Amino acid sequence: MQSIPVILLGAGGVGSALIKQIVANRALHAAEYGVEFTLQAVCDRDGAVITLDAGLDDPTLLDIVDYKTRKGRLAAYGQGGPQSDLVGIVDIAGRTGAIVVDCTATEATVPALLYALDRKYRVVLSNKKPLTMDQEVYDRLTRAGATGGKRSTPRQPLTRWETTCGAGLPVIVALNRLVAAGDPVTRIAGAFSGTLGFVMTGLQQGQPFSAVVREAFDLGYTEPDPRDDLGGVDVARKALILARGLGWRMELNDIEVTGLYPEAMSSLSVNEFMAALPELDDHFRTLVEAAAAGGKVLRYAATVAGGRCTVGPQAVDAGSPLGRLEGTDNLVEFHTQWYRPAPLVVQGRGAGTDATAAGVLAEMVELAAGL
Ligand SMILES: NC(=O)c1ccc[n+]([C@@H]2O[C@H](COP(=O)([O-])OP(=O)(O)OC[C@H]3O[C@@H](n4cnc5c(N)ncnc54)[C@H](OP(=O)(O)O)[C@@H]3O)[C@@H](O)[C@H]2O)c1
Repeated sequence: MQSIPVILLGAGGVGSALIKQIVANRALHAAEYGVEFTLQAVCDRDGAVITLDAGLDDPTLLDIVDYKTRKGRLAAYGQGGPQSDLVGIVDIAGRTGAIVVDCTATEATVPALLYALDRKYRVVLSNKKPLTMDQEVYDRLTRAGATGGKRSTPRQPLTRWETTCGAGLPVIVALNRLVAAGDPVTRIAGAFSGTLGFVMTGLQQGQPFSAVVREAFDLGYTEPDPRDDLGGVDVARKALILARGLGWRMELNDIEVTGLYPEAMSSLSVNEFMAALPELDDHFRTLVEAAAAGGKVLRYAATVAGGRCTVGPQAVDAGSPLGRLEGTDNLVEFHTQWYRPAPLVVQGRGAGTDATAAGVLAEMVELAAGL
């Protein structure tokens, strides 16, 4: 049996779901892969639980999940303490063969991730932010461990990041396979936000923009400030990761992002913003009608093609995979030399803590078992 030390950064929705799935799948991982994950450290933003022994035991792990679900701070947890130095934690808790898992939503993990890679530890990210900083950081994160060529492939490097685009959906692996086979990708088009998918479906059904955003807000589909979804920056980060996966060298600022509200509404409070939404209803009704007149439908899409990355409301053919999409699913079309006229399509739930954690766990098993 191979023991794989794990350092988990972030114990929120995804991190907690991951802990539960590691515990629930111990028998499977032992029997099928000869692997046991031992958690050496679990960190939140200002605290950590660390052991230098053979990993935290399962009752403690499940207690940490329960504690975090009740909004506990690991700094105040029985076996825990304050932390302000993730590099130091990787240094103390890391050992040969370790996997550092980043389930935070911050760039602050980057020094610890780079330190881990310098030590030849492996890294699995559900956190997009480190991969959407400077190109140089992306290169260092994704090419560590690659040998022979400048292109990262999914096998050589020490890092995996499937769940950064479309959660558990096999988007990055599909992209990497197309690249590895030399199949030229001429265009990637995708819907990467369940929330914006919900809004677009509502618009298509004839609902006013203000009503469908209000409904998404009331159902808890949006962030507490809906502008965090409607602005499109999260989708832009995913588009950037895909473009960089094609080998393009670009920065987040190079992505042409059109949000679903005007800049002038940025300074409003959330309540004022919600109250002002009806001012946008006519604009979106016009866009939907113009698209329909041309046999198209409006989608909030990311497009990577011809050296450009655009993110925003786009009129797409009603009969295309993206045009047929309804509801909150994510969908990615890869248009390539071998996939034409119909593109290679990946579709399914693109969010959710359990599906995302399962995607992270699958990558941990792949790295641990050398798959
Ligand atoms: N949820 C999904 O469906 C989904 C899908 C795909 C990808 N993702 C990505 O996965 C990541 C985690 O998502 P989530 O839903 O689990 O978010 P979350 O519930 O907000 O959890 C984030 C965790 O990171 C911790 N954290 C924040 N700053 C930190 C720091 N400086 N050092 C150590 N820990 C820090 C937080 O600590 P506290 O507990 O102290 O706040 C929290 O435990 C995000 O990057 C998200 O974009 C999520």
